[in-house]
Amino acid sequence: MDLLKKLRDRTAVVSVIGLGYAGLPLAMAFADAGFSVLGVDVNPRRVDELNRGESPVEDVTEERLRGHLEAGRFRASGDYAALAEADTITISVPTPLGPGHLPDLSFIERAVDGLVPVLRQGQLVVLESTTYPGTTEELIQPRLEAGGRRAGHDFFLGFGPERIDPGGTTSGGLTFADVPKLVAGATPRCLECVAALYETIVRRVVPVSSLKTAEMAKLVENAFRMVNVGFANEVALWCHELGLDAWEVIDAAATKPFGFMAHYPGPGLGGHCIPVDPYYLVWKLKTLDVPARFIELAGEVNRTMPAFVVSKVQTALERRGRPLRGSRVLVLGVAYKRDVADTRESPSLDVLSLLIEHGAEVSYHDPHVPEVTVKLSERALVQAGGAADKEPVQRLERVELYPLAEQADCLVICTDHTAYDWETLASRARLIVDTRNALRSVAAPRAEVVKL
Ligand SMILES: NC(=O)c1ccc[n+]([C@@H]2O[C@H](COP(=O)([O-])OP(=O)(O)OC[C@H]3O[C@@H](n4cnc5c(N)ncnc54)[C@H](O)[C@@H]3O)[C@@H](O)[C@H]2O)c1
Repeated sequence: MDLLKKLRDRTAVVSVIGLGYAGLPLAMAFADAGFSVLGVDVNPRRVDELNRGESPVEDVTEERLRGHLEAGRFRASGDYAALAEADTITISVPTPLGPGHLPDLSFIERAVDGLVPVLRQGQLVVLESTTYPGTTEELIQPRLEAGGRRAGHDFFLGFGPERIDPGGTTSGGLTFADVPKLVAGATPRCLECVAALYETIVRRVVPVSSLKTAEMAKLVENAFRMVNVGFANEVALWCHELGLDAWEVIDAAATKPFGFMAHYPGPGLGGHCIPVDPYYLVWKLKTLDVPARFIELAGEVNRTMPAFVVSKVQTALERRGRPLRGSRVLVLGVAYKRDVADTRESPSLDVLSLLIEHGAEVSYHDPHVPEVTVKLSERALVQAGGAADKEPVQRLERVELYPLAEQADCLVICTDHTAYDWETLASRARLIVDTRNALRSVAAPRAEVVKL
């Protein structure tokens, strides 16, 4: 087959639609493998910054991006027409939730509709976006086939879920090539093409029997994490009542060499994927009248965590004779996880909003995030001095860490970025609420430390 040969000898033109946290590292991996890569994005600012060699994603260094731009192995475009020259097209656009926690497939639909006029004989189309089982077969395939073309004959269609670990490469974790790639095809020939594409960039490709199986496997991975983090968070709530240290308990349980996998509590669940994607499955199951009890329960527990954190802050301050109202509270870390700049769905934002609602004097520091917009509840809006017709958001700019870390009545560690010097913070602050056990290796903190 022509496409297989072109993939083998790297003469295929490879393209990626959607150049964000998932799509850009993928495009770079293809360029590293020696392909000529075309990236298409509807955001003109994103296209311009990439073509200037500026990377918006921590896992892609500017040096690497510029190297590929200069060598002519990568270019970004806002024009779908450019895809006519591509042999493979991977779609990596957002799959957020709309109102009522319902799947918003508009980004996928827009990408596929943009693709239809340029689809040509022999092209391979692969969806990477996380979505419910049935999307590729029931939504994408009919649209691509509407003009009379058939998957497996005139073009090839597959699903290969993204498994990127943001911040993983910078914190010494797995590389892109280390993570096995699940692949599925609409037909056996489609599967052969999808597998051949990814064999060029990862060490192990794992084919599964159907598109729906691969879509479901991705959601099970994410739901597994959501449910286990939910369980760890509930363990923290139990340990609070029992007067125990949740981390010590979990670490003790984790010494069992089989049948236990440690997950740890935190201020809630954040990011674009884990708190969001499982609801795609919830929705799909609802259409079949089947409940998704574990996901719903884990979501419920995880959503209570920011309020639990704020109650810890309040109690710790009151013990020191200070009400939360009017106290200076400095939140450390607003990104949803360590060493990334992504604040999407970050529980730190809920902690900030709740602190504002309680009348605290709030500020934040995050080495990766210079400013954030906090969505305020109605009560928080009133506290923040907003009128009913005012937009219920508050923009905050990062403060200097010092001297505020010394002056604040309480520090709240929400994200344990490796850039923080915990020894120094613990020796200079007065009171720290540590939601990540970040201070575990600080032997004699001068500050009073309260764990979750
Ligand atoms: N971020 C992660 O860690 C991660 C991990 C695994 C899977 N995923 C999945 O990957 C998909 C993409 O997520 P992301 O985090 O990269 O999102 P992102 O918001 O970082 O990037 C998406 C990009 O797609 C562009 N875009 C939107 N609609 C488009 C269209 N119609 N045509 C072309 N470009 C378009 C946006 O401008 C943006 O640059 C989602 O389904 C997500 O669930 C993400």
